[in-house]
Amino acid sequence: MPKDVIIALDFSTANETLEFLSPFQSLHPYVKIGMELYYAAGPEVVRQLKGAGYKVFLDLKLHDIPNTVRKAMKVLAGLGVDICNLHAAGTSAMMRAALEGLTEGCHGGRRPLLLAVTQLTSTSEEVMHQELLIPQSMGETVAHYARNAHDAGLDGVVCSPLESRWVKDACGSDFLTVTPGIRFADSPTDDQSRITTPARAREIGTDYIVVGRPITQAPDPLAAYQRCMSEFVL
Ligand code: C5P
Repeated sequence: MPKDVIIALDFSTANETLEFLSPFQSLHPYVKIGMELYYAAGPEVVRQLKGAGYKVFLDLKLHDIPNTVRKAMKVLAGLGVDICNLHAAGTSAMMRAALEGLTEGCHGGRRPLLLAVTQLTSTSEEVMHQELLIPQSMGETVAHYARNAHDAGLDGVVCSPLESRWVKDACGSDFLTVTPGIRFADSPTDDQSRITTPARAREIGTDYIVVGRPITQAPDPLAAYQRCMSEFVL
């Protein structure tokens, strides 16, 4: 199974992003482009990073009717990204349509991996019960959404590191888990509440960790990235 660290590029301009990445040029790490950077800098920044040799997880979390998502995924596949994602709550029909769009859009080339967000890590079990009217536990809900994603043919899910084990138990060890909420034992937690260290994420069996501020806000981002790699991968 792959094991890699994905740096969350939570910046608002292409210039800031490229400046941040300059010490990483020879390493070509996996990077994540989220809504902020994509809405600010558009597909051009994706093409730039792909052209420079980075592996790109385009984290746009699509959620719409199946036909709209199919067509949007076809466009995203044309950007040559390595991973993209959607909300499992959009239904199995939407997930199958997304996969069709991605397959069409890569014209026989390598299809980007497709991941589903189960429940956002910012959603508590209480909010899920009271506001979303989902009566099951967080564990049952995440495992059920992951199973839907697996049965629709997706490659894995984005989940909290603490949920990775439930997903693997429900869907098998080959079904990928990609987990944000990573902090070094000695670094601030910021606004994340359900967190683990890179070393603990490795023990749990997560395939990829997504790390933002512990790397992007570090005094020496390259050293922080290398620390993540040595705790998680090596
Ligand atoms: O800075 P930090 O390490 O908390 O960044 C985590 C990244 O992962 C951010 O880009 C955030 O949007 C993303 N993410 C998350 N929780 C999720 C899904 C995505 O923190 N459930």
